[in-house]
Amino acid sequence: MALSTIGAELAALRRNYTMASLSETDVDPDPFAQLERWMQQALNSELPEPTAMTLATATPEGRPSARVVLLKGFDARGLVFYTNYESRKGREMEQNPQAALLFFWPELERQVRIEGRVERVSPDESLAYFQSRPKESQLGAWASPQSQVISGRDVVEQRYQELAAQFKHDEVLPLPPFWGGYRVVPAYFEFWQGRPSRMHDRICYTLSEQGWVLTRLAP
Ligand SMILES: Cc1cc2nc3c(=O)[nH]c(=O)nc-3n(C[C@H](O)[C@H](O)[C@H](O)COP(=O)(O)O)c2cc1C
Repeated sequence: MALSTIGAELAALRRNYTMASLSETDVDPDPFAQLERWMQQALNSELPEPTAMTLATATPEGRPSARVVLLKGFDARGLVFYTNYESRKGREMEQNPQAALLFFWPELERQVRIEGRVERVSPDESLAYFQSRPKESQLGAWASPQSQVISGRDVVEQRYQELAAQFKHDEVLPLPPFWGGYRVVPAYFEFWQGRPSRMHDRICYTLSEQGWVLTRLAP
């Protein structure tokens, strides 16, 4: 299809959001409780990947990059995901420990934006999660120099097979020194509920010295 044709098709696509609304009195005064409520509803709705979130990071110069990761832990301390510390995202977060997270749940006409500081989870926490994964995923983490250029798929396939042979008598693998969790400690939340005619609801929480301050933004 010619790009000029798809351009017109894209411009004509629109959907009206009619499922729900969100007001200052609907939401929990605690944004963590509000996120738990929406997360539970996303889980109950049997969405294909309810825990998939876009993680945005940036270099110290402010050049951004984004990719999807899976939420693996959530409590009053923040939101946890796991990755390779030497990956592009890992390197960016080590040098610039600020990140944004985004959940988009189209079936619920909802978006959640979270921003905050990033810290590594403890090695004990990473180890416990690493060893709870299927052995194949543990081998995969060891085998992949994530984000590095490789000459072909066989590089990681071969590394995987070597590791599988090396650890064939082990039920679990040790934690790779280059792999583990990051926690995003939120200082900002925004809950977006789609509404008809682009008059969407946006309820935000900003962390101040007095605690969380609730505001509404224009859609
Ligand atoms: C649905 C989905 C879930 C993913 N979950 C993770 C994850 O939890 N951790 C991870 O490191 N990469 C995950 N990825 C792969 C990342 O999007 C990305 O390709 C990889 O982490 C390398 O990113 P980077 O080079 O920017 O560091 C996932 C991708 C998708 C599409």
